[in-house]
Amino acid sequence: NTTESGKVTWESPSNIALVKYWGKKKDQIPENPSISFTLNNCKTITTLTFSKKENSSDFEFDVFLDGEKKDDFKPKIQTFFERIELYLPFLKHYKFKIETKNTFPHSSGIASSASGMSALALCLMSVEEELGVDHLDDYFYKKASFLARLGSGSACRSIEGDLIVWGQTEAIEGSTELFGVKYPYKVHENFKDYQDTILLVDKGEKQVSSSVGHNLMYNHPYANNRFQQAHDNLEKLKPILESGNLNDFTALIESEALTLHAMMMTSMPYFILMKPNTLEIINKIWGFREETGLNISFTLDAGANVHVLYPKNESSEILEFIKNELVVYCQNGHYICDQIGFGAKQL
Ligand code: PMV
Repeated sequence: NTTESGKVTWESPSNIALVKYWGKKKDQIPENPSISFTLNNCKTITTLTFSKKENSSDFEFDVFLDGEKKDDFKPKIQTFFERIELYLPFLKHYKFKIETKNTFPHSSGIASSASGMSALALCLMSVEEELGVDHLDDYFYKKASFLARLGSGSACRSIEGDLIVWGQTEAIEGSTELFGVKYPYKVHENFKDYQDTILLVDKGEKQVSSSVGHNLMYNHPYANNRFQQAHDNLEKLKPILESGNLNDFTALIESEALTLHAMMMTSMPYFILMKPNTLEIINKIWGFREETGLNISFTLDAGANVHVLYPKNESSEILEFIKNELVVYCQNGHYICDQIGFGAKQL
């Protein structure tokens, strides 16, 4: 191919898991299946500029975040390139400039790895197309998700929306460990426009990274039960998503969130990523739910921040509660209003 240079841009969202991925095998293969809501507002926008180079001995790239050169991001991307070179053989023949920005505040404690790695994977897919490789639509997204997985596991669930399953499980037809697939069954309209208000309890760097956490699931005393539970929870989620039963939904996702953190607390070495304010918020949510009967629930990522989930038609009362009662527990009063979204877009 004679294409010498070019430029592509993608925006890709973050996602929030309902059934959590925690524990992986080699090559970023998950130990258990997971399912997530794709988000809408928390996104990474990445522009990839590429130009042909003379030698092809090594990867050549520079990374910029908000216009500032970021050499500390390079090792992670170097590893990513090493893992995906087999599937994108042009990588060493081009020089890349990766310019990236997030719509959510930098170091908000929100992991940008899912949105960032999926945006970069999609840019690389577009480069491959510009170099003359044709992909059918469906294959383009599957391969993008496959590549994103090799950057950061959960990133494979950010390419499309609005509910994505990753990991092979009997409960979900067509599910695979290799990439995320759209949830294939009927979903009740209660889940349409579902809201996620993210309370930023702690914006600092986590004390224990996800990759260290995943590795601590090796030899974990409860690992096998936990992996089986994730399969069972996907099976249980099916009738909930179909019927729109929000009580059962709440019970399932809150249990998943606390189980994720229970795995951290029962690892060896053990660790705790929740902060006192995480628990304050959870208790307030439980109290408010008891009092009002509204469908407010929470989930957690591998961090202290709380994702508050609720249906759109209960937004006004719940948002008022969040502003009046929960925002005091956020660092500098920061929170982000998001909702379920439909995946990445080329710009
Ligand atoms: O994609 P990773 O390796 O950063 O792992 C993320 C794991 C959780 O966010 C805790 C759960 C999940 O399924 O997203």
